[in-house]
Amino acid sequence: MRLDKFICKSTELTRNEAKKLLKLGDVKVNGEVAKNPAMQVHENNTIMVDNKPLTARSSRYFMLHKVADTICSNVDEIYPSVLHFIDVDKAFDLHIAGRLDADTTGLVLITDDGRWSHNVISPKKHCQKVYRVWLRDDIVTGNFNALVERFKAGIQLQGESSLTRPAIIEYVGDNEVLLTITEGKYHQVKRMFAAVGNKVIGLHREQIGHIKLDDLPAGEWRVLTGDEVSAFV
Ligand code: URA
Repeated sequence: MRLDKFICKSTELTRNEAKKLLKLGDVKVNGEVAKNPAMQVHENNTIMVDNKPLTARSSRYFMLHKVADTICSNVDEIYPSVLHFIDVDKAFDLHIAGRLDADTTGLVLITDDGRWSHNVISPKKHCQKVYRVWLRDDIVTGNFNALVERFKAGIQLQGESSLTRPAIIEYVGDNEVLLTITEGKYHQVKRMFAAVGNKVIGLHREQIGHIKLDDLPAGEWRVLTGDEVSAFV
């Protein structure tokens, strides 16, 4: 973790205040004055501010039911960041483990533990994400099995050099399916359906790994349970 982030995490200081302390030479890492905010440190280092040792606060883990017209970013752009919904201290020091588009709703995982979020989003971990997808064109029942096979075999997305990893598609209604994928390419679900000549008109993430949104109301958040956290440790 970056040194300035470690200081924020272990004190009430903001990132800018931490940077000021560093500039003043008030921070020591393993007995040496450290001035570089980007220096990488971990729990086993002895970090002192004004000659007092810091102990890192434990990491925080949340789920949020994202509503439309919000963005998975730490800065507001056209739409507000989802972090405004997490009314905890220093919410903007958290980050989002697996982004959703502004118009996509559903499950978002939020943490300040970079190693944990890496386990959620790394393509190498093959973590399953389940999406409920509403489509412009009805699925013709006779063609559904062919669609299942295409998604299983992998879809060639425009501009990508390899096929998508095998995906599972389940029929819910004539223009509604559940899709399970194990990667998170840019606009992946929308591009997969575009590649088979359809269009996503609504998208909602229900599950990431074993963590389910269940009946958490739209716009609400909660702390993840120990079991939910340890599934990605
Ligand atoms: N795939 C998309 O196309 N959009 C999302 O928000 C998530 C997955």
